[in-house]
Amino acid sequence: MSVSSFRWSLIAALLCAAAPTFGETKLPDGPGRQEVETACGGCHELSRIANAGYSAQDWRTVVHMMLNVGAKLPDNELSTVVDYLAAHFPEKPRPQGAAIQGPAQVTFSEWAVPTPGSRPHDPFAALDGTIWYTGQMANALGHLDPTTGRITEYHADRPMSGPHGLVADRDGNIWFTANFGGYIGKLEPGTGKLTEYDLPDPAARDPHTPLFDQNGTLWFTVQSANMVGRLDPKTGAIKLVASPTPKSNPYGMVITSQGVPYFCEFGANKLASIDPATMAIHEFVLPQAGSRPRRIAITPDDIIWYTDYALGILGRFDPKTGKVTEYPSPGGPRSQPYGITFVRGAVWYSESGVRPNTLVRFDPASEKFQTWLIPSGGGVVRNMMATHDGNIVMAESGVDRIALVALK
Ligand code: HEC
Repeated sequence: MSVSSFRWSLIAALLCAAAPTFGETKLPDGPGRQEVETACGGCHELSRIANAGYSAQDWRTVVHMMLNVGAKLPDNELSTVVDYLAAHFPEKPRPQGAAIQGPAQVTFSEWAVPTPGSRPHDPFAALDGTIWYTGQMANALGHLDPTTGRITEYHADRPMSGPHGLVADRDGNIWFTANFGGYIGKLEPGTGKLTEYDLPDPAARDPHTPLFDQNGTLWFTVQSANMVGRLDPKTGAIKLVASPTPKSNPYGMVITSQGVPYFCEFGANKLASIDPATMAIHEFVLPQAGSRPRRIAITPDDIIWYTDYALGILGRFDPKTGKVTEYPSPGGPRSQPYGITFVRGAVWYSESGVRPNTLVRFDPASEKFQTWLIPSGGGVVRNMMATHDGNIVMAESGVDRIALVALK
């Protein structure tokens, strides 16, 4: 990848994290400051560091992520840097999740990924019971067999591809969005062969969430470019269209039983549908101006559920009537609901703003919540997915783990 497109993806990453920039940030004095300034200054402003707050263990993971994407730090300086970061930029106080008892029983299994700082972003539950994931900062896809705990890694050919979302086709090939690289990739697991489909517009940065419809067409959102796209796997042809609302950040996506893609606009208070034939986009405005729907799930009867990250709300949207119902998430307005799925008649999602992260179950029939604290802490569960036998897989980005939640 060229330096300039890497810069663009960094700018995009900075924009989507909405990190305030102070221009020249001066880091506080102390042992390790020099090392941090040398190792951490090149790609982004030091304010990115000054605005963050992590435990020593989580800073270690962040530094490993940076090493994976090319930061230069001699081995013998790693501990000095981590100690400095943890001392001066400790974890910020976070609300605690609400512990709510309920009727469901679950067991968590969590596996550490082989490359530290992988930042497992999205999981994919395959038909055969294995779990795939994207290692966004390790330029990798991972394949976990939960019966043995064995994980196989596949590395993208292009450096700094930033694998983000992923999905399998009917033949078991894994398609992923290369978030930093600006392409769609296809991995054939049998041979390890990788095919890259570049997005036809250089402005189409930040491909995000991919999903197949019933006809085998691949749909995807392109977050910071404010676009959605479609790829025909038979020809490789890609078509992109812009979202009507500027800077709407097309994000999570689902497809209805009728083959209509819906996505949420994380930069606006809107959900939107795409006409599969014309690609015309129709937007639905949520009741509160401050809503920022981030991820989205769908029931077999086409009711859409979304996590409102900004307001701490679980939302229900009925596409047939346009009716929206909002439920305050148990962890409160700052609980940052994120990854979401629907399984065994209930909505499941994670609150990423509380420490530890929670797994939340919402029963639409009784309108009751139940919560669990995620054993590893979760480290921001950016996406989750139902398995074919009615369990849940999660990618735990900040703690470098993949989880399987077995429902009794
Ligand atoms: C080679 C380029 C590069 C260097 C050098 C670099 N970073 Fe980064 N950093 C990135 C990229 C790319 C991201 C954006 C990841 C994303 O959020 O998509 C990032 C994001 C971050 C974030 C936000 C991550 C989060 O999840 O909130 C922090 C904090 C950070 N870097 C700290 C550091 C520290 C500490 C160093 C020095 C050890 C460093 N960076 C050096 C490329 C770099």
